[in-house]
Amino acid sequence: MKYIVDIKCLSVYIKGKKILECIDLKIPRNSIFTIMGPSGSGKSTLLRVINRLIDLIPYAKVEGKVYVFGMNIYNVDPYILRKQIGMVFQTPNPFPHLSIYDNVALGAKLNGVARNKDELDKIVEWALRKAMLWDEVKDRLREPPSKLSGGQRQRLCLARALAIKPKLLLLDEPTANIDPVNTRKIEETLTSLKNEMTIVMVTHSPHQAARISDYIAFLYMGKLIEWGPSSQILIRPRSKLTEKFLRGEI
Ligand SMILES: Nc1ncnc2c1ncn2[C@@H]1O[C@H](COP(=O)(O)OP(=O)(O)OP(=O)(O)O)[C@@H](O)[C@H]1O
Ligand SMILES: [Mg+2]
Repeated sequence: MKYIVDIKCLSVYIKGKKILECIDLKIPRNSIFTIMGPSGSGKSTLLRVINRLIDLIPYAKVEGKVYVFGMNIYNVDPYILRKQIGMVFQTPNPFPHLSIYDNVALGAKLNGVARNKDELDKIVEWALRKAMLWDEVKDRLREPPSKLSGGQRQRLCLARALAIKPKLLLLDEPTANIDPVNTRKIEETLTSLKNEMTIVMVTHSPHQAARISDYIAFLYMGKLIEWGPSSQILIRPRSKLTEKFLRGEI
């Protein structure tokens, strides 16, 4: 299977309002695929369709076809689908009643990624290291996430998503709250994970997209304006709208 996600004329309506309009998109395996576009253009909504979190939004209607791992997402149990998809939300949302350790361990435990305490410890450490958080929390793994800063919480959510060893990782502005040094390190992590998983990332930063993404899709008011290899979109966009967005004019 060449494409991990294959979207055919996807439209989304929420309370009758058109949020996404006939989107066609193919996301190649083992790539970093970036979604860009102004606020309100439907980027987060698009991610929410891929793992069917859109089902939880009242009065949301989905039209068109979405295949993930070659399967029509509406022919699969959403829990089975989500087991293979990690997600980091735009606003960090660690489980408040679980410790830092358990936030990361929970998914790995439920998914059967770790079979015993030793394996679980290893995965938790691996995920926290990959998310560039280990050194800051290794001595307080039993504390609640409320003791962490915003940027630390976002990295905790990244670690939680990585610990399930997903085939597909959805990241909604994963470094929005994170300082430049850790942002660069997380970008290195994402690049290093490309061999193991496919990454779909929303970012507002053309610089970040230029640094790490293989492909860029540009959304504007619910429409997919264009998509292609990152260098082409950044250097020779076909649409004036993309050009304006990249210059910071829309
Ligand atoms: N639960 C909801 N109920 C009603 N409208 C919604 C809901 N979620 C999203 N929308 C609407 O859908 C449109 C797209 O929202 P979305 O969150 O996908 O945008 P976005 O591109 O992620 O923006 P941002 O860059 O600000 O995160 C917006 O007009 C928003 O108001
Ligand atoms: Mg969003």
